[in-house]
Amino acid sequence: MYLTREEERMLKGEYGYAAQKAMEILVALGKIYEADRMIEIKSAQISGVSYKNIGEEGLEFLLELAEDGRVRVPTTLNPCGMDLENWRKMEVPEDFADKQLKVIEAYRKLGIKLTLTCTPYLAGNLPRFGDHLAWSESSAVIYANSVIGARTNREGGPSALAAAIAGRTPLHGLHLSENRAPTIEILAPELREEYEFAALGFLVGKRFGDSVPLFRGLGAPSRDHLKALGAGLASGGGVALFHVEGVTPEIVRDPGLAADERVEIELRELREVIEEFSDDFEEPDLVFIGCPHASIEEITAFYEALRGRRVKRRTWIFASRAVRDQAESLGLKRKLEELGAEIICDTCPIVAPIRSMGIRSVATNSAKAAYFSRNLNKLKVKLESIEELAEEAVK
Ligand code: F3S
Repeated sequence: MYLTREEERMLKGEYGYAAQKAMEILVALGKIYEADRMIEIKSAQISGVSYKNIGEEGLEFLLELAEDGRVRVPTTLNPCGMDLENWRKMEVPEDFADKQLKVIEAYRKLGIKLTLTCTPYLAGNLPRFGDHLAWSESSAVIYANSVIGARTNREGGPSALAAAIAGRTPLHGLHLSENRAPTIEILAPELREEYEFAALGFLVGKRFGDSVPLFRGLGAPSRDHLKALGAGLASGGGVALFHVEGVTPEIVRDPGLAADERVEIELRELREVIEEFSDDFEEPDLVFIGCPHASIEEITAFYEALRGRRVKRRTWIFASRAVRDQAESLGLKRKLEELGAEIICDTCPIVAPIRSMGIRSVATNSAKAAYFSRNLNKLKVKLESIEELAEEAVK
């Protein structure tokens, strides 16, 4: 693998311990993926922030890097295990909070912005078409590649951090044009509801693993529909890029792009996915939206679906601070609070220690959240539309 003089010097330790470690990780990855060289990146986004996921070993690794390490490009953080301002109100255990704050402090020392969101593109880290990135949250990776037309592989937390410190990443995979063409065409029914897009993504991700799907027939999906579709694709399988005919930028620029194989998905199959995510329980302990973190439009839709009725159970909307602030300035946050619903920041129901908060069942409009709530957090789940969630909340 070709290294520039600067990269060689980093590798020799001339830029300090953290830069050396970072370059060692990147060179090792470059060799595995047979990259010819590195490519400079415009931004990084780092997952592996919740103490629940990284544990003591992860914390020690971060503390070591934070001794002399600093990121070279704008870098944002995925959600951690709690709302930094309201963790007591969330009933997060004290010892967990203590460790979580140490993790956050290490990231802060590294020069990383404490955005704590999986939708950095809604919170000030908005790449441009063609930018090379090193992002690691799978739902953000697929959004950046597909909806924005930027270029990032699906990094792990440590490799994204290494790229942030070195300011570059090995040139392979989705950084290269030849790997971005569609490999399968999906003829899909026209959908209206966000949870249907989530179910479609989950189904296609599950069936077609790490393909690059090109969707035809979806009409004109909104930004939130595409966000839900991408999160479904990235959690059902390893998909990191999709195209939607007439909508996403690469296919709009090159409408002749096509794949040899074509598969039709029927509405009936999506109903089956939704049915599959419908466990047998009466009243969820938690009703939530915001996986990936909610946009202002989603928050508005949920508020409107409540139609002025007070919620009767824990009802949370997970969002970035940037979107929460928007909701606050529009008066939406106060109106939701008056109805008993809360906007929770910095965290999400998958990376928070949700079981130790007494939660055993959840209802959500996210296929990704339903899948991980069930398989990782061992909760009972329901996948429903925003209107149905509002009904669950008030009943
Ligand atoms: Fe975001 Fe957590 Fe879902 S990180 S995509 S809200 S699982």
